[in-house]
Amino acid sequence: MTLAVRNLSAGYRDKIVISDVSFELAPGSIMAFFGHNGAGKSTTLKTILGALAPVQGEVWLDGERIDALAIPDRVARGIRYLPDSRGVFPDLTVDENLDVVARMNPFGSGARIAVPDVLAMLPALEAKRRSYAGTMSGGQQQMLAFGLALLGSPRCILLEEPSVGLQPDLVEALFGEIRRICAQYGISAILVEHKIGSAMNIADHVLIMNNGAVVFDGPPAKARESNFWEYF
Ligand SMILES: Nc1ncnc2c1ncn2[C@@H]1O[C@H](COP(=O)(O)OP(=O)(O)O)[C@@H](O)[C@H]1O
Ligand SMILES: [Mg+2]
Repeated sequence: MTLAVRNLSAGYRDKIVISDVSFELAPGSIMAFFGHNGAGKSTTLKTILGALAPVQGEVWLDGERIDALAIPDRVARGIRYLPDSRGVFPDLTVDENLDVVARMNPFGSGARIAVPDVLAMLPALEAKRRSYAGTMSGGQQQMLAFGLALLGSPRCILLEEPSVGLQPDLVEALFGEIRRICAQYGISAILVEHKIGSAMNIADHVLIMNNGAVVFDGPPAKARESNFWEYF
């Protein structure tokens, strides 16, 4: 397994908001992560990243326990986090964004993805190399944010609502790239999304959370038949 989350509980000060959360991600697989607003999806991602310390439970990456590591040490091992507020430097060009982040993300074990690889994988960026990121459309910025997450040796990418503010055709284009690149490089991804249909189309499995607990973990076909949609 690339990522294994075991019996994770976490929260803020004395308030526990996720409890006993467990799931696994196989190499190259994509997990669509759904739940109502406030269900605990971001809290789960923040605990995997290391922005929150778990009250209980474990996080494993490639067979190594990482839940006590600092954020930079998790990033060095291949954890990547894409916030929903476009994770790019708006006042730098596309080339400069890629250069800065490439220097921060050295190669580790696994795939070795450098700037030319990202430009080849995401042709939409190649055409914008000298543009300031802040002047680009939401879709282009999101594509750049995803490209930055690929630099170095990513193992597991955590994506917060990447479709926010994107036109439907751009959502499909972005999701298609995510699917293709994750499969090609054996990178796994967690996709928090409100565009449920689009996310399920590229997902290998679906996790549904309700009030801080996992209520469904299974393949998209089974999720479609379930009655968990009534939660949100
Ligand atoms: N920084 C914070 N401090 C205190 N409570 C928070 C904080 N962030 C989120 N929460 C609470 O934790 C719960 C889960 O939130 P969150 O993980 O953001 O849910 P989701 O991402 O599924 O919408 C909610 O009740 C929310 O109000
Ligand atoms: Mg959230």
